[in-house]
Amino acid sequence: MNVLVLGDIFGRPGRRVVAQHLPQLKEAFEPELIVANGENAAGGFGLTKKVAEELFSLGIHVLTSGNHIWDQKEMYTYIGEEPRILRPANYPPGVPGSSVFIHRSERASVAVLNLMGRVFMADYDCPFRKADQLLQELPKDVTHVIVDFHAEATSEKIAFARYLDGRVSAVLGTHTHVATADQQILPKGTAYVTDLGMCGPVHGILGVEPDVVINKFLTQLPGRFAVAKGPAFLNGVAIMLKNDGTAEEIVRLHFKNFS
Ligand SMILES: [Fe+2]
Ligand SMILES: [Fe+2]
Repeated sequence: MNVLVLGDIFGRPGRRVVAQHLPQLKEAFEPELIVANGENAAGGFGLTKKVAEELFSLGIHVLTSGNHIWDQKEMYTYIGEEPRILRPANYPPGVPGSSVFIHRSERASVAVLNLMGRVFMADYDCPFRKADQLLQELPKDVTHVIVDFHAEATSEKIAFARYLDGRVSAVLGTHTHVATADQQILPKGTAYVTDLGMCGPVHGILGVEPDVVINKFLTQLPGRFAVAKGPAFLNGVAIMLKNDGTAEEIVRLHFKNFS
């Protein structure tokens, strides 16, 4: 059983490159499930109902997220109405939205989980202990578990994946927008990559127009970020899962858009 997971979709260029390549990816991998991180899908900042529906219409089953999920005000209420949009589980209690989505078919019941790191990030609850709790609370019929771990520090991401090795099918890093080349099957059978990279502009700075970011570094003054122009790339993975819930293979996906 194959699952596709795409990194942070950034603005219109990201949505466009995903729309361009998803048909061939579906044909090549015949995925049971398609997951993407949507925290930057609306102009680089968060996600709206309109943009989420556009992404679902492409065949994406579930959108994970991260720290940017609250950038659009409508998400504060909409996330409670749309079970296919997840927010990291380790926010303090009382924050709206769900962090677990379960895809059920005749072949499998796949749980998608979303958690966030703490190193060089905000003061969230412990993702390690929260993951233990989420796994314990999963319905008994769940056969496979895919985790989007939205985090900055490579060490925290690897430690988190090793902590869950053998207990989940995959731990896939998001948030840095820079793909890493360490995709692997961990010793106990969990597929892992430190960061999926993003689906977005090739020549931006993490998706943003370069001049604005460079100026911010030079002056320390806040600037108005804009989505970078030019070509876009798609970054993600295809994972092949075994019936016992572990992973057989992880393949990195990297495509530029058609000109
Ligand atoms: Fe992001
Ligand atoms: Fe993020």
